[in-house]
Amino acid sequence: MSNEIRKILVTSALPYANGPIHIGHLVEYIQTDIWVRFQKLRGHTCHYVCADDAHGTPIMLRAQQEGITPEQLIADTWAQHNADFEDFNVDFDNFYTTHSDETRSFSELIYNRLNEQGYIEKRTITQAYDPVKEMFLPDRFIKGECPKCGALDQYGDNCEACSATYSPTDLINPVSAISGEKPIDKDSEHHFFKLGEFEAMLKEWTHSGHLQEQVANKLNEWFEIGLQDWDISRDAPYFGFEIPNAPGKFFYVWLDAPVGYMGSFKNLCDKKGLDFDEYWAKDSTTELYHFIGKDIVYFHALFWPAMLTGAGFRTPTAIFSHGFLTVNGEKMSKSRGTFIKARTYLDHLNPEYLRYYFAAKLTNRVEDIDLNFEDFSQRVNTDLVNKVVNIASRCSGFIKKRFDSKLSAECAEPALFQTFVDANKEIAELYESREYGKAMRAISALADKANQYIDEKEPWVVAKQDGGDAELHAICSVGINLFYVIAAYLKPVVPKMVAKAETFLNVEPLSWPTNLQPLTKHTINKFKPLMTRVDEGKLAAMLEASKENLEKVAPAQTTNSKKKAPTDQSDMIEFDDFAKIDLRVALIEKAEHVKDADKLLRLTLSLGDETRQVLAGIKSAYSPEQLEGRLTVMVANLKPRKMRFGVSEGMVLAAGPGGEEIWILSPDSGAQPGMRIK
Ligand code: 2FM
Ligand code: ZN
Repeated sequence: MSNEIRKILVTSALPYANGPIHIGHLVEYIQTDIWVRFQKLRGHTCHYVCADDAHGTPIMLRAQQEGITPEQLIADTWAQHNADFEDFNVDFDNFYTTHSDETRSFSELIYNRLNEQGYIEKRTITQAYDPVKEMFLPDRFIKGECPKCGALDQYGDNCEACSATYSPTDLINPVSAISGEKPIDKDSEHHFFKLGEFEAMLKEWTHSGHLQEQVANKLNEWFEIGLQDWDISRDAPYFGFEIPNAPGKFFYVWLDAPVGYMGSFKNLCDKKGLDFDEYWAKDSTTELYHFIGKDIVYFHALFWPAMLTGAGFRTPTAIFSHGFLTVNGEKMSKSRGTFIKARTYLDHLNPEYLRYYFAAKLTNRVEDIDLNFEDFSQRVNTDLVNKVVNIASRCSGFIKKRFDSKLSAECAEPALFQTFVDANKEIAELYESREYGKAMRAISALADKANQYIDEKEPWVVAKQDGGDAELHAICSVGINLFYVIAAYLKPVVPKMVAKAETFLNVEPLSWPTNLQPLTKHTINKFKPLMTRVDEGKLAAMLEASKENLEKVAPAQTTNSKKKAPTDQSDMIEFDDFAKIDLRVALIEKAEHVKDADKLLRLTLSLGDETRQVLAGIKSAYSPEQLEGRLTVMVANLKPRKMRFGVSEGMVLAAGPGGEEIWILSPDSGAQPGMRIK
């Protein structure tokens, strides 16, 4: 690596503005943020931009559902996303929105340039149309019976029950998921981007070191199938940017989403006086990197370089894709409490635990990574607390008590210190190549070495020896200095912990320790715990709170929230399983609000000879007065569950998607509290 200062622009994929950030998203933002922090620490000029992806049908419909404007929805979501990122120490230089003048203007510019050169073609296509809502229906807003297995209530492109894929026209008895009406076929003129015209350019570009090998190989399959024209327009009503000279036609959200990278950067340039063209002009010599998930490679490695080339801009230096997150070996699941929102995590645990854990697991390959909670606690406790923080805590007490907080006049182990500094080259290469797991292991090996040094020197024994002062001073000062180097290596991953270490060490903010010199005759500050062990109770509470989210919140209309068919075979239970459930008629004697809980009511339920307290997520649909005195049905033999707001001793049965649409079940009159339901 040369010593020249590099100029780098980095992006992470833009999160949709209609849902919360969850830990699956965070893999990418943390991965990118570590890389950017590393580059900055090395003294390079690095700009990290992102934005909310604010357009499209789901956002338009979600706003309608909530009775607010799309602008209001995206503003509210932006504020939440921004707070989540800040609290996870994801340090964007600019977090913007695609619904901006800058993104509009670049989208129009790119479109106009492509159009002028004949890369846009208009043709009429037939699509499903909702005659009640008066709108064309994207595939996933059409539901019906699976043409293969007959499962009910399947979305337009694939069956959740049997995994068949098909087109919405194959669905049996299709209906609009918005109005419930049968869709009709309707013609409309669409604008297509002629991707095929870029085949030669893309074949060359995708095999010139801009992509990971696995990704380049995957693209070969797409080249074999042939590059299809890309439909970049959508008809009104649509929340997005209208296409120039095409009234009632809008850019498809995926056209302006990557342009949002430019829009956010332009906004930063205007705020900071940076030169936009230096990073985006065709002849740019700066570096441009996009971090993305493996699911959106097609957009970034084919459409995006083709659009940029066609419109006379530079192409990315590289696209770094990562895999998905599994939790305890399985897909994130709302019912298991492993669909964890960023905010729920932050309510319970230190964000730097997760930053460290992801770093320890990440490689530069397109592999899924698993978050296993046992492993999570163990790695954080062992690597960070027991190994790294412990070095400082073992030595600082003696330095404070016996040497007035001052380190020795000379470093007693210059060679050892130098080995630690020399490791910077290898560790830098690992960060640079996004092999964070290997970097964490290299750093951990240094921490082992430091602890081994202290173990061998036994300062606690030396401390008791007459005349052992100089030696004690030397050992502990070496320990503190080794910790100093390790802190610098960990700074991209756990910046807040290292900021505390800098205060303890009484040093200026650390940069990459290429030429770090030992601290000598230097006064350090009082040691305060830099990181504590993972509290298992808080971890359990976080998982519980994530289950709570599921029970109480209506599912968001996103690509990930497909409903399971009631007939899904994998969900069937045996009769004996059913018989285990003790369903009882219960009288709601009392219903009350729960302090600070948004969604819960506390119900006092009478089962005749017994009373239960149940926390029910029905506050959005009922006021306490509406419930008192009513009969309902409860699961009476559910083990008491400790929730954030208290213990719940059972569960009342309710139906509905959520929000105001929740209905608790009631038996016919005549039923008495305590009766068993058979
Ligand atoms: O898949 C997604 O979540 C998209 N919102 C990512 C967009 S990335 C870029 F192209 F804007
Ligand atoms: Zn099916």
